[in-house]
Amino acid sequence: MPLVEVHNLTKVYPLGESIFGGAAHGEVRAVDDVSLTIDAGETLGLVGESGSGKSTLGRLILLLTEPSSGKIRFDGHDLMAASHREMRRLRRDMQIIFQDPFGSLDPRLRVDDIIAEPLIIHERISANSRRERVAQLLRAVGMDESAGSRFPHEFSGGQRQRIGIARALALRPKFIVADEPVSALDVSVGAQIVNLLAQLQREFQLTYLFISHSMPVVRYLASRIAVMYHGHIVETGSTAQITEQPQHPYTRSLLEATPEIVV
Ligand SMILES: Nc1ncnc2c1ncn2[C@@H]1O[C@H](COP(=O)(O)OP(=O)(O)OP(=O)(O)O)[C@@H](O)[C@H]1O
Ligand SMILES: [Mg+2]
Repeated sequence: MPLVEVHNLTKVYPLGESIFGGAAHGEVRAVDDVSLTIDAGETLGLVGESGSGKSTLGRLILLLTEPSSGKIRFDGHDLMAASHREMRRLRRDMQIIFQDPFGSLDPRLRVDDIIAEPLIIHERISANSRRERVAQLLRAVGMDESAGSRFPHEFSGGQRQRIGIARALALRPKFIVADEPVSALDVSVGAQIVNLLAQLQREFQLTYLFISHSMPVVRYLASRIAVMYHGHIVETGSTAQITEQPQHPYTRSLLEATPEIVV
């Protein structure tokens, strides 16, 4: 059963507003009439070149960006029709992991407080059980509990990404948009993070939209792949179909552009 259903989703941005205050010249259809589904427990890989609209689509599905038109159903709820209260509850179930694990972690906060923040906002739990939950989350992402008392800048990129993942997991979400989570990391560190995401998916029954410009990274994690080009999904299929029998010329060029790497 689909956890996420997207129908004819479109996001239009005005293009190049005049520096003299005139009207915008034209528009960018960053996401243009996209429909897709993501089944509970699966990973849909979203691949495409820079500027093709991947991040915009991911943010639209989470309603972090407001759609120009279209429909989103999440876990049986029409997100556009959801009340403020309903949306607040649904938000717990949908989280995002970013490319830049440093920019997305508040440098002034200790790791404990970064991971606990969603718990403080959404749950009334005692300081003791909060500490216990943070320790569990740190262990779940392969870090020592003692990391909690340190600051983000004391960690490497890979470890910072683990902290970002722990924070995204804090509310036990059902769905995670991972927007280029390993693109800023060295290949070997990125591979460890990809393996961690796969392990967490099994452990917590997560559903992922995994965004990347790299076909080898996407094919490792994804059960299905959607190929995005200029705001459109040009091809969707199982990972085997897309990588072995690509139909669209753009998919073929993406496959040729990316050398095999072993993850
Ligand atoms: N807030 C915004 N205002 C105006 N235009 C935007 C905005 N966000 C994105 N765009 C435009 O929408 C298009 C899609 O951008 P988006 O960031 O979704 O692409 P992407 O596939 O994630 O690229 P990348 O691989 O570089 O992250 C681009 O042309 C971009 O310039
Ligand atoms: Mg992007």
